[in-house]
Amino acid sequence: MASLPHRGRRLRRTEALRTMAAETVLRPHHLIAPLFVKEGLREPAPIGALPGHFQHTLTSIVDEVGSLLDTGIRSVILFGIPGRKDAEGSEAWAEEGVVQRALRTLRSEFADRIVLIADLCLCEYTDHGHCGVLSGEGSTVGIDNDRTVELYAKIAVSQVRAGADIVAPSGMMDGQVGAIRRALDDAGMYDAAILAYAAKYASAFYGPFREAAESAPRFGDRRGYQMQPGNAAEALREVERDVAEGADVVMVKPALAYLDVIRAVKERFGIPTAAYSVSGEYAMVQAAADRGWLDREAAMMETLLAVRRAGADWILTYFARDAAHRLR
Ligand code: PBG
Repeated sequence: MASLPHRGRRLRRTEALRTMAAETVLRPHHLIAPLFVKEGLREPAPIGALPGHFQHTLTSIVDEVGSLLDTGIRSVILFGIPGRKDAEGSEAWAEEGVVQRALRTLRSEFADRIVLIADLCLCEYTDHGHCGVLSGEGSTVGIDNDRTVELYAKIAVSQVRAGADIVAPSGMMDGQVGAIRRALDDAGMYDAAILAYAAKYASAFYGPFREAAESAPRFGDRRGYQMQPGNAAEALREVERDVAEGADVVMVKPALAYLDVIRAVKERFGIPTAAYSVSGEYAMVQAAADRGWLDREAAMMETLLAVRRAGADWILTYFARDAAHRLR
């Protein structure tokens, strides 16, 4: 019997048919907007490498979140830039720390309408810019993993006390999720969730963020704690550990260059999975669009859809506002 010709185009013929044939759905509530709040700032300060984004004041961040909610976005992740940095990053767990103050304000302003995520790391708070505290000196200097994890636990409790629904440890220290879960439970904070940056790669795509968060390391780099780009099996081991330690959501970061890792994580574990489309991914599209080399909106929607298609439930992205606006 002669086989019938394949006519895949039948379901691509009209907009309505294409909509019905769509496998992947992208909605505003899938998007999480990263926001920066800086202590002592009088006016929002534009971030050069992230056009359209600002370091916020404790006042302007409220307006920002209000207008994001109007687009259908349900969640933001906060990064703080403290007025004072020290070797331990003590402003990270200060009662009056900039993120703690922002969390309290946003919680009282928006109540349960907003899901508040607090990035949990030390790099914005230490004077050396590393994600943990240092041990040793000179050529033997390194990050003291276990001491750092104790500090992360303190930060988590202070962020949840201030109003965070979710804490998101991003320092890639071993045992960080378990230590945070224990500390939260010991404090009676059973309802606070953990979004673990489980597979975070040492990436060139974080460049603009380090300007935004004023968190570039003063010496060396982060390859001693973040993962090497070529490793995927290791990512699954990292995720498995974090799930065992109590992560509620696991994250892969960056997104676009690691779509295979997102897919593997989602398939293997089937748990809520986030992907961080990082600052360099935004800057890359923006810069090309500025030169007329790419259609900004089309490239934005295509990449976000691709990250969803790979398996991400949530996408942290600097395009959150624009994409949500477009989706309305
Ligand atoms: C800090 C942190 C980084 C990002 C999120 N949390 C930077 C880094 O590891 O140097 C990068 C996010 C982005 O580039 O958008 N631990």
